[in-house]
Amino acid sequence: MALLMGEVSENQVLNDESVVGVARVVYGFIGTGTIAEAIIDGLMASALGATSSVIVSPRNEQVSSRLRARYPKVTVAQSNQQVVDGCEILVLAVRWQVAHEVLREVLIPANTTVISVIAATDHDALARWTGVRVERIVRAIPLPFVAQREGVTAIYPRDQAASELFDAMGTAVCCDSKAEFDQLAVASALMGTYFGVLELVASWLEAKGMSSAKAQSYLKPLFASLGNFARESAGVGFTGLRGEFSTKGGLNEQVFRDFENQGGGAALLAALDNVLNKIEG
Ligand SMILES: NC(=O)c1ccc[n+]([C@@H]2O[C@H](COP(=O)([O-])OP(=O)(O)OC[C@H]3O[C@@H](n4cnc5c(N)ncnc54)[C@H](OP(=O)(O)O)[C@@H]3O)[C@@H](O)[C@H]2O)c1
Repeated sequence: MALLMGEVSENQVLNDESVVGVARVVYGFIGTGTIAEAIIDGLMASALGATSSVIVSPRNEQVSSRLRARYPKVTVAQSNQQVVDGCEILVLAVRWQVAHEVLREVLIPANTTVISVIAATDHDALARWTGVRVERIVRAIPLPFVAQREGVTAIYPRDQAASELFDAMGTAVCCDSKAEFDQLAVASALMGTYFGVLELVASWLEAKGMSSAKAQSYLKPLFASLGNFARESAGVGFTGLRGEFSTKGGLNEQVFRDFENQGGGAALLAALDNVLNKIEG
């Protein structure tokens, strides 16, 4: 591995008492956009940040300059190849539309650990395009909340380096099969629908004459509390949670029954199936 000035290899040990005995890892990013920035923000704010450094590709220049200005441990490479040569764990974070073109231009040692966050690009394609052995490639679905270290990240297959990275910025959920990974990718596509439901409720309130500001000031904390409650309710499934928040014969129970009876549930399940079909090609 060609080291950049000031960098320390995995096997070297820092001469700083606070981290003596802890190997320092260099993460390299090809593609420095929205999700790379969120991961690097989360990493640098985490305990793992103390023993890690980052080298990013120059594109996007605005984002890479911003990261370099924010974190002394972030270096901007002059090329994608320099990222590969300077890192131990390579994170691929370009859009799938350009992935092949970008990856065929770099030479990656076959035993590099690669974490790909590129959507809709499977292990076989990644192995072909990078020349890296398929067992060294992990796919991950980080969400923007990794920046605040509150992101849940599906990874496949189970991998210590990827788990360590994403556990540092929330929780890594290891999938046992590609099918599981694809199914969680479908579930992650519900974020827009979550807000779409709130948007519908807010517009219903507004149609009754309420100001948009008041509708939002009520709905946002209500749904944040529900999310927090669910997160803290280990061992309670969603049926149990629905029961807990629905008085027998009460209004909550009525709304869900009407929603189901009028095809709301069926529409949602059909939408999930459609996305899964698309992901599976
Ligand atoms: N955003 C999310 O929440 C999220 C979550 C999970 C997974 N993902 C996946 O992560 C990938 C990146 O998404 P994103 O939202 O971060 O997209 P993005 O903001 O557009 O970032 C992509 C980055 O790749 C750079 N790039 C383009 N061509 C390049 C090249 N030849 N060499 C090096 N870098 C190049 C772009 O630079 P320019 O701006 O200069 O073109 C940009 O900085 C996608 O596959 C996406 O599906 C995204």
